[in-house]
Amino acid sequence: MRVVSGIQPTGKPHLGNYLGAIRNYVKLQDDAHAAGGECLIFIADLHALSMPHDPADLRASTLELVATLVACGLNPDKAILFNQAQVPLHTELQWLLNGTARMGWLNRMTQWKDKAGKNREGQSVALFTYPVLQAADVLLYQATHVPVGEDQKQHLELARDIAQKFNNDFGTEDTPIFTLPQPIIPAEAARIMSLRDGTAKMSKSDPSDMSRINLSDDADTMAQKIKKAKTDPEPLPSEEAGLADRPEARNLVGIYAALSGQSAADVLREYGGQGFGGFKPALADLLVARLGPIRDRFVALKDDSEALDAILARGAAKARERGKPTLDAAYRALGLVRH
Ligand code: TYM
Repeated sequence: MRVVSGIQPTGKPHLGNYLGAIRNYVKLQDDAHAAGGECLIFIADLHALSMPHDPADLRASTLELVATLVACGLNPDKAILFNQAQVPLHTELQWLLNGTARMGWLNRMTQWKDKAGKNREGQSVALFTYPVLQAADVLLYQATHVPVGEDQKQHLELARDIAQKFNNDFGTEDTPIFTLPQPIIPAEAARIMSLRDGTAKMSKSDPSDMSRINLSDDADTMAQKIKKAKTDPEPLPSEEAGLADRPEARNLVGIYAALSGQSAADVLREYGGQGFGGFKPALADLLVARLGPIRDRFVALKDDSEALDAILARGAAKARERGKPTLDAAYRALGLVRH
């Protein structure tokens, strides 16, 4: 069992990242450890270059993200925690995979279409080739399990297509070069939506801070954001079907379900018939109970840049070691001469 996943250091990590992905990193870190496997979680700082960025912010948010991941329960003694920039094998493998990935495949990526909008010509080449680097990130380590939110599913399918084609073109049946990775997407909370618009994803890049719960928010801020979250005037339905055309209500019920470890149907059994005046305070209390301790640990860790840098350096050294055999095999398979 090889668990591999990444998270970008742009903006502040939020509830969507936590419920969609980070919570599963922690669970799979323990599962992998128990099974004698390994878990590699990295900060995707190279992916952050695909959009305009401020170099000083990038360094600060990279360290803050390490503190967040540890605060959420990643244990640097159990999992390998690092940033891509310290492991050049990722970009080396990306170049090797550029020969296999097809323009048409990248053109179909919904994230590319959404982010580029009508201005494709003005985007960075990095935004277009982003999914090839993401494929390299997981294929480099022979990942078997990749915990992600729903929005990354298509990128993982692309990684599988690239691996399959590379294996067909350059491997042999007995010795495939790459393992086909399996996305691990949570049943509840695979796609947490904005608190201001139930049809838009909760996102680090949303200009409105009220649209998301940041993992670094204090209890009052979290409660305020839930209180102000957009809703409709109807009481909650008693069954899930009643949420179909109510995206904001469905999102808040989904968040409650994911945080309490229940299904949406269970939550509606308890709160069906009640208005948001009763449900929102219950949700805010639950959020604070679950995220408060994470925030406290984050605050205690975030300013110790020496300790955070040391975690990354130690993780990067291990990651370079783990990735080398696969990178060497890919070079060999392609007929590239290296002595
Ligand atoms: P990123 O940084 O946007 O998000 C990190 C993780 O959080 C999940 N996520 C969500 N889940 C539920 N609801 C939401 N609103 C929400 N927003 C984000 C994402 O699905 C992701 O799992 N390209 C990736 C980073 C990456 C990566 C990789 C991931 C680079 N290389 C290799 C997996 C494997 C990204 O930008 O995630």
